[in-house]
Amino acid sequence: MEQKKVTIADLQARKAAGQKITMVTAYDYPSGALADQAGIDTILVGDSLGMVMLGYDSTVPVTMDEMIHHCKAVRRGVKRAFILGDMPFLSYQVSEEKAVENAGRFIKEAGCEAVKLEGGSEMAGVIRAIVTAGIPVCGHIGLTPQTATKLSGFKVQGKDAEGARELVQAAKDMEAAGAFMLVMECVPDVLGARITRELRIPTIGIGAGPDCDGQVLVYHDVLGLFERFTPKFVKQYVNLAPQIREALAQYKQDVESGAFPGPEHVFSMSAEEADKI
Ligand code: KIV
Repeated sequence: MEQKKVTIADLQARKAAGQKITMVTAYDYPSGALADQAGIDTILVGDSLGMVMLGYDSTVPVTMDEMIHHCKAVRRGVKRAFILGDMPFLSYQVSEEKAVENAGRFIKEAGCEAVKLEGGSEMAGVIRAIVTAGIPVCGHIGLTPQTATKLSGFKVQGKDAEGARELVQAAKDMEAAGAFMLVMECVPDVLGARITRELRIPTIGIGAGPDCDGQVLVYHDVLGLFERFTPKFVKQYVNLAPQIREALAQYKQDVESGAFPGPEHVFSMSAEEADKI
């Protein structure tokens, strides 16, 4: 049976009804399909794929072509969830024209429903241009990994009153520019709650406390598939990496010992036909 796609109206209705929104990242056909089958509302094809899938040290090197390739694979696995494509570094900062063109690729080529982009109040013009072109935009404030160097590293943002006021303003400016949703990363819980209260659009937190309208985590962090580091805000629900290593080591051992393939894994032919070979 055809499943009803999650829409922006559904997400906004969840905020109004006080029902939490679920989001997880996914990067390929199987992760997209599993997240969708688990009933997750929104799937973010995050540029975190640069680190957890492609082995880069940061998200900075990720290209538009890499993002489109992964978004297309996720799209093929997802029937119900709302899919966001993450705009990579320098795909939206150079000019509004370039930003609209690149955002359009996520929709036309990759079949995403919306795009996400990082920044603060300075991104309002770009958001307005993309939204005017008919493409829904989700903002991303707080710790913005593409510009982590400018923020002096992967640190909690908005910890003092001035920084917090700036983030409240950024959130309001993004909403006013037409963003339909806002991701907040690594901000104090009271600030996450305050911004959530002040916005009409839903907020999705990652290290932004429990009062956001929804939560997002990286697929590999939830499942224990990324072993380089684990941020404080992550809850790991299963630790798959050791299990995968163990299974592969068992396979190697079985091949080397001759235990695999067994009789149940082979194709047979009649002795009569075999004699004629
Ligand atoms: O790229 C990503 O996975 C993200 C999430 C951490 C929000 O931007």
